[in-house]
Amino acid sequence: KIVVLDFGSQYSHLICRRIREANVYCELLPYNTPAKVIKEIDPKGIIFSGGPASVYAKDAPKPDKQIFQMGKPILGICYGHQVLVDNFGGKVKRANSREYGRAGLVIDDKADLFKNLGQSSINCWMSHGDAAEKLPEGFKVLAHTENSHSAAIGNKEKKFYGIQFHPEVVHTERGVQILRNFAQEISGAKPEWDMESFIESTIKDIRNQVGKEKVLAAVSGGIDSTTVAALMHKAIGDQLRCVFINHGLLRQDEEKDVVKLFKDQMDIDLIYINAEKQFLGKLKGVTDPEKKRKIIGEEFANVFVDVVKKNGPFQWLAQGTLYPDVIESGVSKGPAAVIKTHHNVGGLPKWLDLKVIEPLRYLYKDEVRKVARLLGVPDDLLKRHPFPGPGLAVRIIGEITPEKTRICKHASKIVEDELKAAGWYDKVWQAYAAVGDDRAVGVLGDERVYGHIIMIRVVESVDAMTADWSRLPYELIERMSSRITNEVEGATWVTYAVSSKPPATIEPQ
Ligand code: XMP
Repeated sequence: KIVVLDFGSQYSHLICRRIREANVYCELLPYNTPAKVIKEIDPKGIIFSGGPASVYAKDAPKPDKQIFQMGKPILGICYGHQVLVDNFGGKVKRANSREYGRAGLVIDDKADLFKNLGQSSINCWMSHGDAAEKLPEGFKVLAHTENSHSAAIGNKEKKFYGIQFHPEVVHTERGVQILRNFAQEISGAKPEWDMESFIESTIKDIRNQVGKEKVLAAVSGGIDSTTVAALMHKAIGDQLRCVFINHGLLRQDEEKDVVKLFKDQMDIDLIYINAEKQFLGKLKGVTDPEKKRKIIGEEFANVFVDVVKKNGPFQWLAQGTLYPDVIESGVSKGPAAVIKTHHNVGGLPKWLDLKVIEPLRYLYKDEVRKVARLLGVPDDLLKRHPFPGPGLAVRIIGEITPEKTRICKHASKIVEDELKAAGWYDKVWQAYAAVGDDRAVGVLGDERVYGHIIMIRVVESVDAMTADWSRLPYELIERMSSRITNEVEGATWVTYAVSSKPPATIEPQ
């Protein structure tokens, strides 16, 4: 395996993913992880990520110096490159001409790091204001750009390499090959990381961990919880029980689809709880978005406790936590402001005393998809848009009433169906119709109707951190609009949301 030390770059996880794409397992650790800990992990090679700091600043993050004495190959990227230069007595200075964006990299040494590229220059992606001015002893230039005479350097004897550009971003041509060269050729890591072997070894681990005990898993119909269920079921069969709680704020027919998927397609016995009345009762009269989220979280925990009491005892709770949620960033960015309280099964009472098992905690989302596919999870589900835990509660503005819930479900179904028919569904991140208490006059036949205003929201995104509204063809928006006003009783007007995130968010609440 390879270890990436995180100096705070926004790309640190990306480095990790790219190394895994080269079939070598990779873990992300904080930059100041003690050498002793790294020794125990025993990686074949170590990568220093980029970061926002300057190595010559007073509190610049630096790694444990013992790391350089471990005899392990090291690759420094951007800030990591400067850490290497600085550590071995070279000089890093504010560059005369900073480099941001694309640059032509001329390769001076086609051995090891730049092996098998099949070309002597590549486009690479730069983003730095500092540069190595004087190389440390023992280091040679391996590649340069017009503005950086030492865009890549190496001390081949010690296997220390530094590159100023970012091989992990797609804008760097053959970047994965460069990382593969470091992991496989220079560090000697074997290309053994793939999802078949992950499934095999995880099944063994689950069996060892759980023994003869019983496991409960809450499933939502989403990819992560479904994959957890499939994997656990394969490992321990009927020692696993899955529970699906219908809070009444799901997408149209979703509860039927999930029950069918588990029973018919995955052959997993599902405890189906229809708690619609209970949730909607608690939500009656509540208009504040955060209060709605809180109530749903609490009610979820209550229903869950009932399930445990009735179907238990259980010793374990299986959860679909993924790698990015497990890993803390190496450089603290300070506490982020709470924009929305996300709802999950975190808030269970301690007295339940369930041990937590998280079989996907080492995986990235794209790896989970591969695992799911290998386990036979149907493609429909893998392609389904993400859906928030509190469901339509965040898409129904103001009080949640049966009428608004019906409108929201029906109109959203039309939006999804029209997107699918037009071949747009797979191109967008999320798509739905929201409804609030704003009304507008319409004419139905000869009658005046004071109906609801529906807001269609369709966004494109890669990670939900930022998002842009989808530039759908006017004809498609029009089809959605006319079907909604024709088919959804109580809807008179349709609007299209054209705010990006930031400053808006993907969901209205
Ligand atoms: P926002 O609205 O914050 O949403 O831009 C970002 C992404 O998160 C989803 N979302 C949630 N997912 N529980 C979830 O599991 C929640 O409480 C929740 N709130 C928002 C949202 O659908 C989008 O993909």
